[in-house]
Formats: sequence, structure tokens, C-alpha cells
Amino acid sequence: MASSETGGRVFADLMRLAEVVEPGQPGWTRRVFSAEYLRSRELVWELMESAGLEVRRDPAGNLIGTLEGTDAQLPALILGSHTDTVAGGGRFDGPCGVMAAIEVVRRINERGGRPRRTIWVVDFLGEEPNDFGISCVGSRAVAGHLSPEHLQLTDRSGRTLAEALAAVGGDPDRIGEACWPEGTASAYLELHVEQGSRLEEAARGLAVVTAIAGIHRAEIRLEGRADHAGTTPMDRRSDALLAAAEVSLEVERLGRREGRGVATVGRLELEPNSPNVVAERAVLIAEYRSGDAVWLATTDDLLQEVVENAPARRGVRGSLAWLSREEPTICAEELRSVLLESAREIGEEPLELPSWAGHDAVQMAAVCPVAMLFVPSRGGRSHCPEEWTDPEQVEVGTRALVAAVTRLAV
Ligand code: GLV
Ligand code: MN
Ligand code: MN
Repeated sequence: MASSETGGRVFADLMRLAEVVEPGQPGWTRRVFSAEYLRSRELVWELMESAGLEVRRDPAGNLIGTLEGTDAQLPALILGSHTDTVAGGGRFDGPCGVMAAIEVVRRINERGGRPRRTIWVVDFLGEEPNDFGISCVGSRAVAGHLSPEHLQLTDRSGRTLAEALAAVGGDPDRIGEACWPEGTASAYLELHVEQGSRLEEAARGLAVVTAIAGIHRAEIRLEGRADHAGTTPMDRRSDALLAAAEVSLEVERLGRREGRGVATVGRLELEPNSPNVVAERAVLIAEYRSGDAVWLATTDDLLQEVVENAPARRGVRGSLAWLSREEPTICAEELRSVLLESAREIGEEPLELPSWAGHDAVQMAAVCPVAMLFVPSRGGRSHCPEEWTDPEQVEVGTRALVAAVTRLAV
């Protein structure tokens, strides 16, 4: 049974972090390059330090807390997640894994003695998609996947990702040093909220993740012609908004294909975005996800055809630029076994599930074997203010993580 005192500790940390949010924004918004995100990480730093971790910030802006093991020859065991949120997001997606990892270190220290293997707790910078069009900035850098081209991406104000990174304590000129050389890490474990309803429906407290869906994300630009909304006859328009509507419906159709994936247009910008002007330009971001690499590759080709043909029927020119193409990630068999055994050790019979959400674990899979644990999300809600996991459920996840770390590092 959960000890309410220790269970309350992780939960209390989550609630403290949730106090540092962007004013005037819905839900618990703390986007990656906001002042509040920067401020919130002072709290994360403080929590890491008071748990007994030696804390540093790497050139990619990741916060890394080290608990030195007794055998310096052994590669470190990595625990982590992220503390940024989507706009209008919740309090658990990301922070749950960071706070539970800090608690694991507290409990190891309370037991007394040092672990055999060094443990790093990482709060990865900016896991959620940002205004520069990429996600997982910090873990991407650790994996050596943050390129000079990425650093030159600009947001709407013209600021580069390099400048934004420097403003949150990173050092873009030394970004290569954030990449971990081979042999740094033995394994990566991430505790996360499920963000779906399968655990709740099965009345289970834990899931061991089998694989993480690949995500392909593209920016689609639609160039029409601005015209007077009253004087331009209906058959003489090149309406970028209507082309965007057609493309969005096609994207939905692609996502419904064969029941093997999902697809979303979650962002749309219009110019001039005026009630009495036919839209001249629309820029949307389409993403689709699947655990099946072949389905993803076929969908790439189909989307390309959609962008060439659907807007043209309305006299609008379409073009597509890929923002990211992450392939599905398989969680390591041996770590999954450790997580299953750890869950059973604390009296839980976990589900085994694929993740339809993306995670820092995807980038970390290029560095070392990875595995993930899920705890339930009430009503399956996530990326919204209603996101919720009970304190007792957080505690079950934390205890399973402690058990796994004990097997792998102590
Ligand atoms: C991350 O939260 C994602 O799955 O988009
Ligand atoms: Mn998220
Ligand atoms: Mn997350």
C-alpha cells in the first residue's frame, strides 16, 4: 500500500511546480522558452540538490543531477522526463517522471549507502513542440541529433533557436558537448502518465511500454490570393483557408486508413486573417503517428500527393516541408522484463502497451536501451487542464521505479 507520507512528497512537488505557470494562459501552461519555465527550473534544481544530487546545466539547457556510484567504471543509469508543457496543458505530463526520479534518489539516500552505479536524473529541455517547429530539444542534443540547421530555425519574431536556448541557460556554441559519448549511459527509464484511458479501463495501476509510435510532422504552406470578400465572385477565388480545410480533411482520411495510425492538424495560421478578405495564405502543421514504419512511409507519399493536388483544385499552390520524422521506437526487452518484475514485486500486475505519445525516450534510444512505465490518467485526458493522476497512483509508479533502479543500479 502507498505510504501517504512518501507518496505525498512526489505529489506535493508536482503541485509546487504547477504554481509556476504563465499568467493569463489557460490550464497549467509553462512553455519551453517562457520566463516561467526558466523560473520553474530553479525549483527543479533546488529539489534535485536537496535530494542529494550534484546538479549542472548542460549546453542544451538540460538539468542533470548526479548521484555518484561506488563503481566509476560502470555507465550511468539515466532517469528523466521533461517539465515544459503544451499551451493549456496539465500538471503531470513530464513533471511526473522528473519528480518521481528525484524521489527515487531520496529513497536511495534514506536507505543509506551509495548505489554501485552512478544515477543521473535529467530534466530534458523542451520536450513539447515549440515555435521553432521541433520537439525534444534537450534529449535531441544528448543523442547528437540537434543539428546546426535546427539551431538556425526561427520563430515568428525572427529569433533563432540558438538565441532562445542561450536565454534559458544553454550554450549553443558548445552544443556538441551536450552529446553523450558512447558508454556514458547503461539504460534510460522514464516514468510518465499514460495520457490515454487503457489503464483506467482495465483497472490497473501500471503499464510497461512496449514501443513508442513514430511521429512524422510536416509544415504545409498554402499560397492563394487575397481578394475582396464582397466583390470577388465565388468562382474567381484562390482561397487558402478553403484549401487548408480540404487538406485537413484529407489528413484525417489518411489517419483513419487501415486503423493503423492517427493523424492531426492541430495548428493553423492564416493571413491576413480578416473577416472581409479571402485568405491569401494558410500555414498548417500536420502530424501522423503509428507504430508501423511502413504505414508511416506510405502516408508520407500520400500526404505529398494531397498537398500537390487538393489545393490546386482551388487555384492554390501547396508546398510541404518536413519538420521531423521519428520512426517507431522499440523498448528494450531486458529492461521491460526488469520493469515487469519490479511492478510485480510491489504487488501490481502491469499491462503491456504501446505509447501513442512521443517522449524523450525516443531520442534516448539512440544513446542506450530505453524503457518506460505508465501510471493512469483520469478519463484518459492529457494535453489539457483536466489532466489528472491520483497521488496514490503516482506513488505506485514511484515505488515501481525505485524497485527497478534497485535492480539496475544498487
Ligand atoms: C508529446 O507530448 C506528444 O506526444 O506530442
Ligand atoms: Mn506532452
Ligand atoms: Mn510528456
